Amino acid sequence: MTDPKSLLAAAIAARRGAYAPYSGFSVGVALLGRDGRVWTGANVENASYGLSMCAERVALFHAVAAGARNFDALAIAGPEGVTTLPCGACRQALWEFAQTLRIIYADRSGMKASSIQALFPEPFGPAQLQEARPH
Ligand code: THU
Repeated sequence: MTDPKSLLAAAIAARRGAYAPYSGFSVGVALLGRDGRVWTGANVENASYGLSMCAERVALFHAVAAGARNFDALAIAGPEGVTTLPCGACRQALWEFAQTLRIIYADRSGMKASSIQALFPEPFGPAQLQEARPH
């Protein structure tokens, strides 16, 4: 379950849970916690479009609420044949807990790996808030 191929298979399976009647763009993810637990998520849309929630944050917030605080890898599966990486808001949300996250996805030629450092190179995060605190 924790190797990249199995994690991507878990993301593809999780995509079945997507509720995406407005965009028609179903996304599934599997997030590997440092403690070995795997959290899955799918996007959940709303008739009030702005309330829709990405698959990544569904999985991340579930994991954090259950006590997980560190994550090693995220696999993401968008619609079949569409290369899908986390949106900007999700990159920010993931950075908070996973500054060395590996990101696994597929493009036309097969499975690929990236990282949160590559996708979110100039972050704003806890370190900046810490820096601003009076000493
Ligand atoms: N979406 C995700 O769930 N994750 C991404 O990384 C990209 C976008 C969702 C949000 C919305 O429900 C649909 O895909 C189209 O943007």
